[in-house]
Amino acid sequence: MKGPKAPVLIGLADDPAATYTRPMVQHPRRRRSVRPTRPFRFAGVALLGLVLSSCSLIEIDSPLTTFEPAGPIADRIDGLFWPVFWIATAIFLVVQGAIVFAAIAFRDRPGRQEPKQTHGNAKLEITWTVIPALILAGIAIPTVRGVFDLTECAPDAMTIEIIGHQWWFEYQYPDQGIETANVLVMPAGQEVCAVMTSEDVLHNFWIPALNGKRYLVPGQETFLRLEAYEPGDFWGHCAEFCGLSHSLMRARALVLAPADFDAWVAAQQAAAPVPAEGTPAWDGLQVYLNKGCTQCHTVDFEDNDREVLDNIVAEPGFNGPNLTHFASRSVFAGAYLPYEGLSYRQALTEWLANPPEVKPGSFMPDLGLTQQEIDDLIAWMETLS
Ligand code: CUA
Repeated sequence: MKGPKAPVLIGLADDPAATYTRPMVQHPRRRRSVRPTRPFRFAGVALLGLVLSSCSLIEIDSPLTTFEPAGPIADRIDGLFWPVFWIATAIFLVVQGAIVFAAIAFRDRPGRQEPKQTHGNAKLEITWTVIPALILAGIAIPTVRGVFDLTECAPDAMTIEIIGHQWWFEYQYPDQGIETANVLVMPAGQEVCAVMTSEDVLHNFWIPALNGKRYLVPGQETFLRLEAYEPGDFWGHCAEFCGLSHSLMRARALVLAPADFDAWVAAQQAAAPVPAEGTPAWDGLQVYLNKGCTQCHTVDFEDNDREVLDNIVAEPGFNGPNLTHFASRSVFAGAYLPYEGLSYRQALTEWLANPPEVKPGSFMPDLGLTQQEIDDLIAWMETLS
């Protein structure tokens, strides 16, 4: 076997010229076992598991994955992520490979001489300062540009206001005069400029297929660009802990073809019909009017002159979702209901019977409704399409 070349060590020795051979007897223990100790073996297995599981996560068809961008803005983030990921992976492999190689090739062996000790190497140090600086600059320039671009809405974007509440998202369409909740309906191929704020605490709007996360801050406005190429249903979630039912505060974007979106707008602009007297829906309306629902909820009726419908606009300070087109939204209660395995009607029955039991901390109280009242309410709410 060839004698090992002395590696260049920097800044280690007091005397750079010193070379000597260590007597073997001084460290017999160090060479006895090359098997890792138990904690190291465990850490190795855990690390391997972590690496494998994170790889498989990329493959999982998760509704909240950032790896399936569905619009140009999410694509832009994805386009930044992968080059940075592969650069980082290449650096990891080169650095770790060099460490492992050096640890094996230059390990202490019987009869080996102490390597030549040197103090500093200007060429090497300049090289390994300049290369990372260039890599970081190469990553930083598109990243910073991306951050600014992703914040500034295009001038022709459609404005939708998103207001965070404990625990649901409210959507206002100022140009169309629409007020809705839980489902953000938007047209395909059209940028939406979300102007966001919160009515209570910090929330965070996140629909991973359409863009990254952005805070909703009380008393402030934040902006988020959203766009989808094709019609589809995109799920998201409030991404900031905002109280008891944060985990049940979902976001959902329903992207429609432009013509379907226009039809949806026209339908949403229509007022709610007043049901015929004597029907279950009429009885349900009476429950709504007399059981305190109007303290928080608003319904825009066709016939606001009717005596029975006077003074039913909720206080602006504390409002629940506008119910005018409640039945047109397939989800409610922060887009959490109905969850899988529960029909819409079953979920609505459960919800109306005791909201805080379904959604802890819910500001909609248990109104002590009878089953008859619940059935009537549902009969009426089904007319709010
Ligand atoms: Cu809103 Cu978490």
